[in-house]
Amino acid sequence: MTIGGAGVVGYRAAVVGAGHTRFGVLPQGPRQLLREATDAALASVDRGFDRSRLGRGYLASLGFGGWQIGNSSALLAEEIGVPQLATVRVENACASGGFAVQEAIREVASGGSDLVVVAGVEKMTDVSNARRRYWLGVSGDTEWERQAGLTFAGVYGLLASRYLAHYGLGREVLAEVAVKAHANGARNPNAHFQKPVSKEQALASPIVADPLGLYDCCPVSDGAAAVVLASAESARRWTDTPVYVEGVGAASDRLAVQERPDLLGFAASRRAAELAFRSAGRQPADLSFAEVHDCFTIAELLALEDLGLCGRGEAGPWTASGATGRTGRLPVNPDGGLKAKGHPIGATGVSQVYEIFQQLRGTADARQVPGAERALAHNVGGAGATAAVTIFARG
Ligand code: COA
Repeated sequence: MTIGGAGVVGYRAAVVGAGHTRFGVLPQGPRQLLREATDAALASVDRGFDRSRLGRGYLASLGFGGWQIGNSSALLAEEIGVPQLATVRVENACASGGFAVQEAIREVASGGSDLVVVAGVEKMTDVSNARRRYWLGVSGDTEWERQAGLTFAGVYGLLASRYLAHYGLGREVLAEVAVKAHANGARNPNAHFQKPVSKEQALASPIVADPLGLYDCCPVSDGAAAVVLASAESARRWTDTPVYVEGVGAASDRLAVQERPDLLGFAASRRAAELAFRSAGRQPADLSFAEVHDCFTIAELLALEDLGLCGRGEAGPWTASGATGRTGRLPVNPDGGLKAKGHPIGATGVSQVYEIFQQLRGTADARQVPGAERALAHNVGGAGATAAVTIFARG
């Protein structure tokens, strides 16, 4: 079926507005972050918008620390100022945002609503280290990982050891990812870290979980992001420059990493990508850039291979060649990614769509990817137990 611009095949949905707070160690609480991001997203809809037109709201959040855990989607309605709006919370760990966006796409594509809002939020820095470790750990396997003391840095450290040993590579390939991420973050006014780092600095940083050092890890960040979606048919009523959804894919895998037969990638990401490309009628070569889930530098290398952006075992040399830099052959995470922009869990997947919306409309300022026309968002829950991949294109 054809929607929007010529040749756009697939899901009948479009992004028509987007908002973002700064990511970092912030003084605001979760409600205020939610309000700032949704206010910005709703105000960014070019014309004719009225909050009473919203048909549904989706809140993506792990529900961190002491913040309200159950029934929190009602806060979204409250902060938007439409207290009777039907809302639902989507929780798939670090992939909550990506999955919430896909639920919203289905709502407008099926004709359930003309216009919906998706917001992702997390407040992570107001709890103790021990409490934060608990809250992050609940998204992994309990019996064999969390209760045995394994953190997410520990799980990704094991995956990195396996990958480097299998392909005969050193930590330098991981450092290349960090250098590229921080260079991009330095151009993003919303990023947690806005300073470039050198390869030498990255390699000299203290080890967090061997072989991962400080610069191989995403930081602990507060923040929120929001997007407004419309049915493809109505998108041009709200803006002349909608960003259309072309393809959607999602999948799961065994929760415990030790139960998986292959540690050189995430089966959930591979399946989600295959479904997304198939439903879009596209292939990796059609992308102008990609937003991938780089919670740790090794995660970006695995993602490049799982998504088919390069061959198995090629991600390290490919990154070192500059191919994934902002002006490279296929820019990856021009906003700095989770590594430099930050990773407020529930906000991350929505933030990826915010970035794609800005890039495909040519409004990404200093981080603009020249000539961006089509992009992919890849959001992973935990250590690959869930994955959502969504493909977007300019109208
Ligand atoms: N990358 C680069 N610099 C970082 C950083 C990161 N990930 N995390 C912290 N820093 C910097 C801080 O800005 C600070 O710099 P300053 O001294 O110049 O102000 C310094 O390092 C110390 O910060 P602090 O917050 O005390 O670090 P920490 O040792 O408590 O935490 C990590 C560092 C890597 C352990 C923590 O960021 C972490 O746990 N990250 C992973 C989060 C996670 O698992 N998320 C889920 C993924 S699935």
